Amino acid sequence: MKIAMIGSGYVGLVSGACFSDFGHDVVCVDKDAAKIDGLRAGKMPIYEPGLDALVTSNADAGRLSFTTDLASAVADADAIFIAVGTPSRRGDGHADLQYVYAAAREIGENLKKSAVVVNKSTVPVGTGDEVERILRETNPNVTVHVVSNPEFLREGAAIGDFKRPDRIVIGCEHEEAQRVMREVYRPLFLNEAPILFTGRRTAEITKYAANAFLATKITFINEVADLCEKVGADIQDVSRGIGLDNRIGAKFLHAGPGYGGSCFPKDTLALLKTSQDYNSPMRIVESVVQVNDNRKRAMGRKVIDALNGDVRGRKIALLGLTFKPNTDDMRDAPSIAIAQALLDGGASLTGYDPEGMEAASAIMPEVSMAKDSYEAVIDADAIVIVTEWDAFRALDLRRMRELAAQPVLIDLRNIYNPEEAKAIGFTYYSVGR
Ligand code: UGA
Repeated sequence: MKIAMIGSGYVGLVSGACFSDFGHDVVCVDKDAAKIDGLRAGKMPIYEPGLDALVTSNADAGRLSFTTDLASAVADADAIFIAVGTPSRRGDGHADLQYVYAAAREIGENLKKSAVVVNKSTVPVGTGDEVERILRETNPNVTVHVVSNPEFLREGAAIGDFKRPDRIVIGCEHEEAQRVMREVYRPLFLNEAPILFTGRRTAEITKYAANAFLATKITFINEVADLCEKVGADIQDVSRGIGLDNRIGAKFLHAGPGYGGSCFPKDTLALLKTSQDYNSPMRIVESVVQVNDNRKRAMGRKVIDALNGDVRGRKIALLGLTFKPNTDDMRDAPSIAIAQALLDGGASLTGYDPEGMEAASAIMPEVSMAKDSYEAVIDADAIVIVTEWDAFRALDLRRMRELAAQPVLIDLRNIYNPEEAKAIGFTYYSVGR
């Protein structure tokens, strides 16, 4: 199959590389010439474990190429994926669809034969209809079927998620489109990955419902964690106690500083906007968004409380800045709100992150960056673990204690055993324990 991937960002690049690894002939398109030049030279625009090796081996095998020339890429493609960004629109939280529609128009202008256009970008319900309308308007002479095929990739684990998916959701309205999509995913079919064919609008809603549900699960357990702290219970055991119930499931029950990233915050807001437009209130999701927003700054207050309510002139070390481990993505990272709350209180901050420091420096220029965890904690009045990178799971706590000015450890991801931390001499705080 010949596949054109429009947009070589996180989703486009991972999907394109994985499709080529299945043996399809893939060309990834992007308007950013520097990005395309970099990719041709084997330089990844994002940090994602395993991606560089996958891209290089498939590019070397001639199955994966990169271009800024959309026209040549789509001309003879069997399936054209739209994987461009859909950021939150400033002001109202609605998904900004300008890049999706621009891509649809450009595809329409350059199609030479009938094709299937597949929307992989996360888009509000009804966007597929509009994309189809644009394609028909710009190119009435070829038959185009528009499909919704949402992605369920987690940053940091995207290649595994793509190759061993829990399910593949494909929303389409025509048999021919279904046939092409079966062919695109045939290698996974052989792995018996469940493929769910639905209507197009159903697939669009499924993506938002999945992310909103996961965001709800996290927010729920975070509130239970707060209650655990007040009543002297342990959230780790509560999570295990409820997660072993198959109806609930153990995943996404880790209490922490609140969810961040490029998906949950944006997608929950966009779902709310859709629910308002259709006059179908979603009060649970509304609460989730509000509770999670408040939580991030509240984690800053938790640190201030640990320093007796005053951080003016204190030095605080932040370990982990990205929104989760194994990514360099800082979008909506809890560290941003936490750092701001501490800076507002007059603290000086030192940060360290295994992959995110370049992106973090641009967002939080007031935070001085250290070269490793140990340098970050020198003379610190408090050490805060914000993101659970593996590199922080087995720190030499004794050495940390000696380097720090005060033995205060605030572990917002519950990666340390409270008894061990206390035995080493730390005043130890965590979440929900
Ligand atoms: C999420 C979904 O998990 C993917 O299925 C989806 O495809 C993707 O969004 C998307 O829409 O593109 P991602 O944002 O990469 O993936 O990361 P997650 O692993 O879901 O984590 C999101 C946030 O929730 C992080 O801030 C993480 O720290 C937090 N989280 C996650 C918790 O606080 N507790 C948990 O138990 C799990």
